[in-house]
Amino acid sequence: MELLSTMFTLFASFLFILVLFKTLIKHFVSKRQHLPLPPGSMGYPYIGETFQMYSQDPNVFFATKIKRYGSMFKSHILGCPCVMISSPEAAKFVLNKANLFKPTFPASKERMLGKQAIFFHQGEYHANLRRLVLRTFMPEAIKNIVPAIESIAQDCLKSWEGREITTFLEMKTFTFNVALLSIFGKEEVLYREELKMCYYTLEQGYNSMPINLPGTLFQKAMKARKELAQIVAHIISKRRQGKQDYKDLLGSFMEEKAGLTDEQIADNVIGVIFAARDTTASVLTWIVKYLGENPSVLQAVTEEQESILKSKDESGEEKGLNWEDAKKMQITSRVIQETLRVASILSFTFREAVEDVEYQGHLIPKGWKVLPLFRNIHHSPDNFKEPEKFDPSRFEAAPKPNTFMPFGSGIHACPGNELAKLEMLVLLHYLTTKYRWSMEGAKNGIQYGPFALPQNGLPITLYPKK
Ligand code: HEM
Repeated sequence: MELLSTMFTLFASFLFILVLFKTLIKHFVSKRQHLPLPPGSMGYPYIGETFQMYSQDPNVFFATKIKRYGSMFKSHILGCPCVMISSPEAAKFVLNKANLFKPTFPASKERMLGKQAIFFHQGEYHANLRRLVLRTFMPEAIKNIVPAIESIAQDCLKSWEGREITTFLEMKTFTFNVALLSIFGKEEVLYREELKMCYYTLEQGYNSMPINLPGTLFQKAMKARKELAQIVAHIISKRRQGKQDYKDLLGSFMEEKAGLTDEQIADNVIGVIFAARDTTASVLTWIVKYLGENPSVLQAVTEEQESILKSKDESGEEKGLNWEDAKKMQITSRVIQETLRVASILSFTFREAVEDVEYQGHLIPKGWKVLPLFRNIHHSPDNFKEPEKFDPSRFEAAPKPNTFMPFGSGIHACPGNELAKLEMLVLLHYLTTKYRWSMEGAKNGIQYGPFALPQNGLPITLYPKK
């Protein structure tokens, strides 16, 4: 009898807790669901405001919305409802709450880069990849490849001498070769041309309509992707036969304790090339433009770089740059920072809410896309005085927290930022001490492909200095 009564009490308590729990969940869920959506307009059914955003300069679209609705507003683009945010605090919130907001990409882009590439993941798999990538790109590791980067920079500049070049196209060759160096080490030269041909076909299909039919750019790109993976598999198998220790990214990926399959390695090699090449090449193209338009800044950078050469001559130190030289390039570093701010080549990024999220009294519904607008944060007069002016000296003082995020923030922030800065410094050293250039054609205008770029990729003619 006593046992029966104890069981009854236990059962009643369990029921009570269950009902209480359900009521609480309901209360919070309904409370969230009753929160207002952020202000804004959703445009026409399905197409939303895609046309408005892309028919004009996207920055005008964003600026008009911010003026009308404030720093957080809703919209509907590319078939998805979304919330756009332009306050530093909100951007930090979204990028740092990985449990609430996951990265999101169109399925066709995932297929093309490889579903197992770092960008598309969260959790343990992502953390493992990130650890491997960070280890290869941290200052301590990239210190050793300064001479090899230097030789790539010198070869590139030599090949541009005396002719009109499209800066962006040529910078892509430089950043591609540096990316291969960081992935495959010195062996990169052996595979450079083969990898380059496949990668160029892949990139042509990247922004095409995802129609997998014979003859389409998309189909050619998917074929090139397969060939890229085969080249990577070939390099992996050759390395396994040699049993040597490699300090490059492929070496890290191949470590036994990394636990990656060959397919996962190939997806991430292709992913890193994608992340490293056009981004850095676009920034370098903008730097060439801004230096060309600001003679006093160019003068200051040239003097800084020449003083590094001079100090080496005087001390009898070995010619050629090293990591310590790069650390001395303070003015040049500020030019890079200011270019990253003004050009904001990545205008925004995408996240998706994994559950209903409340932010400052508004509901961000589960499944909606969230876009932190980097360019608007970098161009707000609240964050930077006279934001449209190119003025590297503003970085003599640190910017306000979360107002400068060219490399993102949180667990998906760019792990290649130190390498990107280093390769830019090395190229700028030789560009400013050995060459001068004139800009050809139209001076203004931005094109997006998808990164912001000077019109026509900035045609210039490069001359060796006397
Ligand atoms: C100036 C050049 C570069 C810029 C402006 C840039 C910018 C960014 C940004 C903003 C993100 C974060 C995107 C997001 O949160 O959605 C990112 C991620 C990433 N970047 Fe860069 N990047 C540059 C160069 C590089 C280089 C040289 C490498 C490799 C060597 C690289 C590798 C990566 C990778 C692997 C990720 C994904 C990280 C993750 O998902 O955990 N980037 N980059």
